Amino acid sequence: MSKIRIGILTGGGDCAGLNPAIKWVVKTALDKRLQAERGTEYEVWGIKDGWKGLVDVEPGSPRVSDWIMPLTPEIVRTWDRYGGTMLGTSRTNPYSPKNDQSRKVLSNIEKLGLDVLIAIGGDDTLGVALKLAKEGIKIVGIPKTIDKDLTETDYTLGFETALNVITEEIDRLRTTAGSHKRIFVVETMGRYAGWLALEGGESSGAYIILIPEYDFSIEKVNELIIEGRREGARYDIVMVAEGAKPVGYAEFVQEERVDSFGHKALGGIGDFLARQIAKGTGFECRSIALSHLQRGGAPCAYDRRMGRYFGIAAVDLIVMENYGKMVSYKNGRITSVPLEKVIGKLNVVDVKTQYDTCLLYTSPSPRDRQK
Ligand code: F6P
Repeated sequence: MSKIRIGILTGGGDCAGLNPAIKWVVKTALDKRLQAERGTEYEVWGIKDGWKGLVDVEPGSPRVSDWIMPLTPEIVRTWDRYGGTMLGTSRTNPYSPKNDQSRKVLSNIEKLGLDVLIAIGGDDTLGVALKLAKEGIKIVGIPKTIDKDLTETDYTLGFETALNVITEEIDRLRTTAGSHKRIFVVETMGRYAGWLALEGGESSGAYIILIPEYDFSIEKVNELIIEGRREGARYDIVMVAEGAKPVGYAEFVQEERVDSFGHKALGGIGDFLARQIAKGTGFECRSIALSHLQRGGAPCAYDRRMGRYFGIAAVDLIVMENYGKMVSYKNGRITSVPLEKVIGKLNVVDVKTQYDTCLLYTSPSPRDRQK
């Protein structure tokens, strides 16, 4: 029987759904009956801390378990219940122009005897996967990011759990906001895509939703709030994505420093807007950034199921020797797409069909949303 060693890693921001995907990769690859049918014996090695693990690992060293964790169905049995990633993650970019460590990664893959890699990540992690694929590495990607900004897939792991967090937190805010007749500005994550704010706002019934794809007018926000009060609203929830900005402003950043993929840490628009609303309307207004809470907690049922489907599909691609692909969920079906088609563009909200610029809200017609 031939032997294949699969290395699996999680990269970028953690989220719920990673552990279910790892579990189902392991269970599918090591399924005894399937191994016999395929005539191939599979092994799965977990690589710790994303691409950092493959940069830092010292193959053959007695400390190799600092970076590598052989996985069995017994080890991963309960993993699908837990959030985050049991393998750890990092934002290490082996192709960083400032410190290119890609040769080290290639040599470590060879020294470790990894025949195939599975990379679970968003645009950055899968961008590295594509570069490695172009260098001849057999690689398969699984999409994850609470931002849901990857193209060529209708779902990315972690998104639904994050929406659940947003909805639950806003339910909590409503009672205190209502009791004090306060306005709450809630800042979500999402980078340059408005999905978390838009769909989190839909799920929780926010009054105004501000997304990065449409620069809003502060005056318009204040007008809508005053109008709502006139019509009897006791309080309001205003949802703002971290990447959203008023007309004429630059994006709000926590610090100018960029990470190894060139991203700034966004944040701060919520606080700014709350002050502008208080000043412009005279109503009491507070802000809250949901921040990393959105990435935390146990995966919701949907992320457990999608992690399972994506994990199984990734192993199927390996069995079929169909590399350089990302598993994907499209039009209700699990499928796969070339990594080449995924990287370099973002899936963002289409303001023309999915957002109402007058109400600063979701486009009211579900028919429009499907376009
Ligand atoms: O890409 C996922 C994400 O959660 C973004 O929404 C957010 O801007 C960023 O990661 C935060 O990253 P970090 O965990 O490095 O602060």
